[in-house]
Amino acid sequence: MKNIIVSPSLLSADFTKIQEELELVENAGAEWLHFDVMDGHFVPNISFGVPVLKSIAHKHHMLNDVHIMISDPLFYAPKFIEAGADLLTFHFEAVKRKNVETVIDMIKSKSCKVGISIKPKTDVKKIYPYLDKLDVVLIMSVEPGFGGQAFMESALDKISKLRKTIDRRHLSTLIEVDGGINDVTGRKCIEAGADILVAGSYIFGQKDLDKRIKELKRL
Ligand code: DX5
Ligand code: ZN
Repeated sequence: MKNIIVSPSLLSADFTKIQEELELVENAGAEWLHFDVMDGHFVPNISFGVPVLKSIAHKHHMLNDVHIMISDPLFYAPKFIEAGADLLTFHFEAVKRKNVETVIDMIKSKSCKVGISIKPKTDVKKIYPYLDKLDVVLIMSVEPGFGGQAFMESALDKISKLRKTIDRRHLSTLIEVDGGINDVTGRKCIEAGADILVAGSYIFGQKDLDKRIKELKRL
């Protein structure tokens, strides 16, 4: 039985009762907590940044899974690591090819786990050259920028291609999927080879939050 990691996305949380929200998801078995950082430039939305991460990062025991949808990851990465990121995932599309390894190496140099995220239109082969350095690949199953969007089935083919490549190279890189995840789409992602499921609107604000997280972990 595969241990599926659930990473609830804070973008859908009620910040007027954030401590309660953290306890709810952690007590339900969420092992990671997904921070969706948006700068209003790389994506057409603004969410939250370093001060919010700093205020939350040590108020729970989940892994701080920080997804930066921002234009200048090299400049801001150290600030998010300092604020408490345990895993920092930047966007492949936000960095010139010649600088991708520089960003990876800088994040690793600060003893932080590193991930690359790719948008739906980006070919998964583009990140193959970096796989051996990556702890996580974050496959976007929606256009980044908003919670509550519909799952894009095209993500499934990317997940299975990536799974085969990781296994063929005997790497330990984990596959995380993000966007439109529920019990039906989550199962398809796990069957395709995913390890971690990000879910925002399917979890936060739901009366049966506890049951939903436990269900996702057993897919
Ligand atoms: C979108 C974010 C996702 C999103 C997930 O840009 O990266 O993490 O918050 O929200 P749901 O699960 O509602 O699609
Ligand atoms: Zn995200």
